[in-house]
Amino acid sequence: MALAEHEGVTDGLEGIVAAATRLSHVDGEAGQLILAGYAVEDLAPHASFEEVAYLFLHGRVPAPAERAAFAQDLARRRALPPAVIEVLREAAAAQTPPMDALRMAAAILSLGRPGTPLDDALTAIASFPAAVGVYWRLRRGETPVPIRCDLPHAAHYLHQLSGAEPPPERARALETYLNTVSDHGLNASTFAARVIVSTQSDLFSAITGAVGALKGPLHGGAPGPALDLVFEIGAPERAEAVIRARLDRGERLMGFGHRVYRVRDPRADVLAQAAERFYAGGGDGRLYDLARKVEATALRLLREYKPDRRLDTNVEFYTALLLHGLGLPAELFTPTFAAGRVVGWAAHCLEQLRDGRLIRPQSHYAGPVGLHYHRAPAGVAS
Ligand code: ACO
Repeated sequence: MALAEHEGVTDGLEGIVAAATRLSHVDGEAGQLILAGYAVEDLAPHASFEEVAYLFLHGRVPAPAERAAFAQDLARRRALPPAVIEVLREAAAAQTPPMDALRMAAAILSLGRPGTPLDDALTAIASFPAAVGVYWRLRRGETPVPIRCDLPHAAHYLHQLSGAEPPPERARALETYLNTVSDHGLNASTFAARVIVSTQSDLFSAITGAVGALKGPLHGGAPGPALDLVFEIGAPERAEAVIRARLDRGERLMGFGHRVYRVRDPRADVLAQAAERFYAGGGDGRLYDLARKVEATALRLLREYKPDRRLDTNVEFYTALLLHGLGLPAELFTPTFAAGRVVGWAAHCLEQLRDGRLIRPQSHYAGPVGLHYHRAPAGVAS
């Protein structure tokens, strides 16, 4: 019997409600996502990143003066401690994957910065773009770009990567993306963060753990492979054969399926619209059209191969398209996801510290009993 089939065990905690939250609600049957009271399609494309971060940390949209003060506070926290830059330099020399480098950086962001949990939350949110940007430039043998405090958060992220001020439509497209992925119920990385602070540990420990959880291909690591599929297909008439071959080999199609959504992930729609606007304004329109055809073929074949499953497009498929359109390399897709989701991680940690209790479930023991330990005599190989 598989371990997960033992009585009383809920495999993968599917369907278990493990926390109450005011932060976001995922309705998997209706395909709706509410972010702190607002529908994702209402909030994400229109609000600034700073407003969304404030909303999650303080429970309401800021008034104009609060928004300006909050944006300044975040901007002042952008610079990385020198030790973080040193670690990123070493990581770049070792050609470390960017998510591993971000995890290493996250762990020491607190160096020399004792603060309240809210301070830690702000510092983590403010620092992620610089951590990703500095690392990426070092990895490519380039000099990191000095921090700018006069750019909004999303524009500053792109500036950290390229050294150039992005045109407003690029900054807006990234901002829409960061807002869209800012929070999503009790997903694996958020749950990991809540478990860590539930012991009354600190936010940087929790956020470091969350980065590790996000990295896996079943969670935040899917958009790179999703884009690879589109590139491998290359032309609409090849979609059916390539996807069929993958499904025949028992492979999963990255960017499809979700633990909670049984219908299309509403974030996919928000990002598809952002990508369409962006690609129509001068991007590679052929790639966008190809992706739509790949999506349609994938959905048709998933229904054929898995008729009793309800597998639909998830956020990662259009993440890949949008971020690629913004000129980000696939290796930075998941770190960019982290730069958006760090808002949700931080807000969940504050909520858990305020209202939560130690998270400590039980396990079902399915191993042997009654064994007796005998130490093998010295010199006898075992
Ligand atoms: N392609 C093909 N088959 C799939 C896919 C997929 N993308 N997703 C699920 N299935 C199939 C499984 O093979 C399984 O079939 P079987 O029962 O016949 O063996 C069935 O659907 C159920 O799969 P589970 O793994 O039990 O579903 P779970 O809820 O655990 O998985 C997950 C959710 C991990 C997201 C899954 O759909 C998947 O692997 N998708 C691809 C990776 C991906 O896109 N991840 C990003 C998710 S969004 C996010 O985290 C931000």
